[in-house]
Amino acid sequence: MDASTQELRDAHDVLSDWYAKNLVGVLESMPVERAMLDLFAELTLAVGTEVADVGCGTGRLLPYLAGRGLAPRGVDLSPGMVEVARREHPGFAYEVADLRELPFADGSLAGVVCWFSLIFLAPDARAVAFAELGRVVQPGGYLVTAFKHGDGTLRRNGRSTDLGVDFDRYWLSPQEMLDRFAEAGFAPIFQGSTPPEEGEPPYGYLLVRRTGSGSAG
Ligand SMILES: C[S@@+](CC[C@H](N)C(=O)[O-])C[C@H]1O[C@@H](n2cnc3c(N)ncnc32)[C@H](O)[C@@H]1O
Repeated sequence: MDASTQELRDAHDVLSDWYAKNLVGVLESMPVERAMLDLFAELTLAVGTEVADVGCGTGRLLPYLAGRGLAPRGVDLSPGMVEVARREHPGFAYEVADLRELPFADGSLAGVVCWFSLIFLAPDARAVAFAELGRVVQPGGYLVTAFKHGDGTLRRNGRSTDLGVDFDRYWLSPQEMLDRFAEAGFAPIFQGSTPPEEGEPPYGYLLVRRTGSGSAG
């Protein structure tokens, strides 16, 4: 594992309990996020139920996805996050894995959720990461992602949790997201964003469908 990924993983081990405490119930006050997940669930259910939350963190989205009829499992780089997910949201399967090397067979998933987990990809990691997402989603399946808008360059010293951790972040532009997904064999279905707020970039939301063409197909 490279030093940057190790730092990211170690930092999220430290952040795991902070996330568990501070993100509990947040989805209930975020209608846009629920709407995106609802749209993803409705479309994906026509394809199948097996989905993965990649970069699942504390597993907070899994009960919501299960409530929409999907059979979600969670994957995260951070063993600490996975430990918290197993404790806070038991009854689901979780694995520690890097999204660039997912523990799923080719085309085995009807859908994938990447909720603020594609915001740490260094330039040389991006093609591999998006291709891996394309590998595991079956043709006709869906992927939904939430992300922060940026220009793709390295940012450190972002929002502080006062826990003494920091790590590399790379917020991609909506166009780079679209381009990367296109290269990986996904076509856009719906995209949107929130207005910027004080100290925060716009949040982007993108739903794509695996076409079976592109470099991953
Ligand atoms: C901002 S948190 C979001 C967690 C969760 N999706 C949520 O919305 O609460 C980002 C998560 O992505 C995970 N992550 C970052 N890079 C990853 C990678 N390369 N592979 C797997 N997980 C990754 C982190 O460990 C962290 O748990």
